[in-house]
Amino acid sequence: LRIYVPADASALSVGADLVADAIAAELAARRIEAQVIRTGSRGLFWLEPMVEVATLTGRIAYGPVDVADVPQLIPALLEGAPHKLKLGNPDAIPYLARQERLTFGRVGVIDPVSVDDYRAHGGFKGLEKALAMKPAEIVEEVVASGLRGRGGAGFPTGIKWRTVLGAQADQKYIVCNADEGDSGTFADRMLMEGDPMILIEGMTIAGLAVGATQGYIYIRSEYPHAFRTFGRAVEACRKAGLLGTRIAGSDRDFDITVRLGAGAYVCGEETSLLESLEGKRGLVRFKPPLPALKGLFGKPTVINNVLSLAAVPTILADGAKTYADFGMGRSRGTLPFQLAGNIKYGGLVEKAFGLTLGEAVHDFGGGTLSGRPLRAVQVGGPLGAYFPADYLDTPLDYEAFAQRRGMLGHGGIVVFDDTVDMAEQARFAFEFCAKESCGKCTPCRIGSTRGRETMERVIRGEHIADNLTLIEDLCRTMTDASLCALGGLTPYPVTSAIEHFPEDFDRPRAHRAAA
Ligand code: NAI
Ligand code: SF4
Repeated sequence: LRIYVPADASALSVGADLVADAIAAELAARRIEAQVIRTGSRGLFWLEPMVEVATLTGRIAYGPVDVADVPQLIPALLEGAPHKLKLGNPDAIPYLARQERLTFGRVGVIDPVSVDDYRAHGGFKGLEKALAMKPAEIVEEVVASGLRGRGGAGFPTGIKWRTVLGAQADQKYIVCNADEGDSGTFADRMLMEGDPMILIEGMTIAGLAVGATQGYIYIRSEYPHAFRTFGRAVEACRKAGLLGTRIAGSDRDFDITVRLGAGAYVCGEETSLLESLEGKRGLVRFKPPLPALKGLFGKPTVINNVLSLAAVPTILADGAKTYADFGMGRSRGTLPFQLAGNIKYGGLVEKAFGLTLGEAVHDFGGGTLSGRPLRAVQVGGPLGAYFPADYLDTPLDYEAFAQRRGMLGHGGIVVFDDTVDMAEQARFAFEFCAKESCGKCTPCRIGSTRGRETMERVIRGEHIADNLTLIEDLCRTMTDASLCALGGLTPYPVTSAIEHFPEDFDRPRAHRAAA
């Protein structure tokens, strides 16, 4: 008998460990031989902890399970007896059945630290193919797939790899950016906790493609579970001869070092991440030189987000064309987007690009959790634009978002109902930037604090028109003159809030900071 209980941080936060312990204790008390396997989460957060049991006809899911449910749950798990929490075949739950899980297919299904389980579910097929290919052939396969950087900027991954492949150096590096700092995002974390080996495989293929023998992964300090699971997966791969020298019996070498960040949002910016990896303070570097030519320790470096690297094994295994057949326009493949904020069914949805924002929020998310009318949606993290309800027809596509002066970013979708105060949100954008600024350039270091103060004056109703003009001017300066995206994108949430919700900026009101 095999019983699966998630150990993903989202499930742990609602008691998954207690449920797993209660199941183990109940099985022992009844002298029933069974394996309790800890998995990642399927990403249906309102059903966590979701417990599954393997049966002759496939898996059956139950959720959300509480410790008090366990004594009655055991007979149901054993004999398939009816149970009030029975959900049936998890793959048939509409939220999952409607997805196109190219990257997340194994998350919540396999034991994340078992090489055998990963292989039994189709793992390492991409690596096997890559080992039989020349570096340039691997790079061109990734170019042909149309894969673009999933961290937020959407730069073509294959083109970045081509630059690194062409650079001459005695040492090159692969760096995985797992400093997932955007509000409302958790896809990187879920992948590292649920299927870390797909990322290990992707990093290894990247190493083979550009001639790098050493990889680093930089995981944010707020992700202790991901750090632990990923580290255990690396160890398991080393033991199986899949990392280290002569990987998978070939004549090629590749290994991965796992590093933990120290809690700075700006270390998700690639050059500041490299500084931090080198043991220095996370200050942003000037570009050029690009990391592709002069990155970690001054050597050519592929630096990619978790989801970009994790897409690569599927591209190699199934072929670039199969991957590129998903999506729309220049956004090819799938986007694992994340539903958060005031939303009924929060979780992870992987779908081909092109689904509209409204389909994501209503068809998958079920609208607001409060049941009140939806007023705003912020996509792309704390630096993303606020869209009003009449922008819900925007397709999830890099260019479609850019056309409406928004950004898709890392696919985080945060929903607000009609109780939100958009002037407060605009003030918060400046405050966030002031707190997280690395301090290297003036528009961001000084501008963010002046912006917060000016927005507080607007909120208090002081010279509203003049202060909004000042803010407009400040936003232009921050956009044009900031060194990196933190200062350069902070105007997005500010100006979109003013443009789409002007009625929140024309009257005095009490607020937290002014009180
Ligand atoms: P960018 O547009 O400057 O660069 C994108 C990537 O392409 C970088 O890796 C850069 O080195 C590379 N690149 C550019 N030209 C190249 C060339 N000719 N050859 C090889 N490589 C080249 O964008 P940046 O500043 O790296 O990222 C900004 C984005 O980060 C924002 O759009 C935002 O969405 C996202 N972001 C994501 C967060 C997260 O938690 N995932 C947090 C904050 C921001
Ligand atoms: Fe640092 Fe802000 Fe300038 Fe970026 S924009 S380099 S975070 S001061």
